Amino acid sequence: MSLAPQELENSASRFAAEAIKLDSQGARGMAISNYQRAIESLTKLIQLYPDNKLNRVYTERLGAYQNRIKALQMTNVELEPAVDPKATPEQQKQSLAKNEFDDLVMKEKPNVSWAEVVGLEDAKDALRESIVYPAKRPDLFPLGWPRGILLYGPPGCGKTVLAAATASEIDGYFINVDAASMMSKWLGEAEKNVAKLFTMARGYAEKEGLPVILFIDEVDSLLGSRNSEVGGEIRVKNQFLTEMDGINGKGKDLKLYVIGATNKPWSLDWPFLRRFTKRVYVTLPSLEARVKLFDLYTSPLKKDEKVKSLELAKLADGYSASDIKDICQSAQLMVVNDLFHQADYSPEPVVGEPKMQPRELTLGDFKEILTRRKPSVSMEMIRAYYKWSEQFRAL
Ligand SMILES: Nc1ncnc2c1ncn2[C@@H]1O[C@H](COP(=O)(O)OP(=O)(O)O)[C@@H](O)[C@H]1O
Ligand SMILES: [Mg+2]
Repeated sequence: MSLAPQELENSASRFAAEAIKLDSQGARGMAISNYQRAIESLTKLIQLYPDNKLNRVYTERLGAYQNRIKALQMTNVELEPAVDPKATPEQQKQSLAKNEFDDLVMKEKPNVSWAEVVGLEDAKDALRESIVYPAKRPDLFPLGWPRGILLYGPPGCGKTVLAAATASEIDGYFINVDAASMMSKWLGEAEKNVAKLFTMARGYAEKEGLPVILFIDEVDSLLGSRNSEVGGEIRVKNQFLTEMDGINGKGKDLKLYVIGATNKPWSLDWPFLRRFTKRVYVTLPSLEARVKLFDLYTSPLKKDEKVKSLELAKLADGYSASDIKDICQSAQLMVVNDLFHQADYSPEPVVGEPKMQPRELTLGDFKEILTRRKPSVSMEMIRAYYKWSEQFRAL
């Protein structure tokens, strides 16, 4: 995340804290204007960064502040204080919007199968051995099984889809959170979020004896300095380590697995890594995998017979799976664009005739896109992953 959303978040948070303080002191007018400014900052934040994972939380806060303003404006009504004036500022902030933590957690089972994850055979094997088999036949694992699995590697290569496919393979719960959101000050103190998260996951695992996969994306943010006051990240990390030890120490009855994913394995320290006994490199796709990816993503497209997946795969050395998806999307967009710019194009089909169709995709279209669009992962990054792997990979 760049600096700008951070600044907006900070300013919204400052106005909101001030508003809540004034509100609890009975200073209605000033409270209202501070709530309004918090609302403005949050609105701007949502508009400028529509994909931000925290937008749901922001929207909820925004609604809470708007309701509070409405309540304050009805001057004749006897007002309950919005918050308990004796509570700490942090407790006051939390009491205004509960449950937002639950909102960040996706508990449904994802609909992704192993077959949809192209390549990555090592990673699939590791996940089968450490999660799928023990979940299905715990009786075959008298010595227990690993509880923490770290998936690391460049962005867009399938860490998230792998975790999702594992979850859909076993009959259980999938809890998907991203660590960066947990660290946000809008969700309160991060170490409490970590504790809440594990309590929730254990609750599911104990309640019905079903396996639970706790997937923590961007797990490196738990150690990062983003947002946290000095010393805060140490508390978060210690909380996380304690929770991991709690699971590891539990008997084999508890079917709780933690999958962490990161693009920045080097920012994890040894105490942290030690809790992830399996560390799996999710690599850029091999030539063979790239062929399959092109098969997959060009299959619904109309293309000239000279467009062969093998040829495309050779040209796309160094590109990630998600790059390849983008390339195929851009190729289709190119012909669609050409169609819309065609002089005789009309969106309404002539009565009795089919809708006008774009021309076929050519090898030249793909080549043009490949020269314009560089791989999203640099060679230097790949070397860094490789070096880290030599030291820390554990299958
Ligand atoms: N190995 C793969 N097989 C098929 N599709 C993939 C693969 N890796 C990535 N993708 C595509 O790229 C998108 C992003 O992948 P994702 O799993 O989020 O990457 P990561 O978590 O490693 O950053 C996925 O939604 C999927 O469409
Ligand atoms: Mg991901």
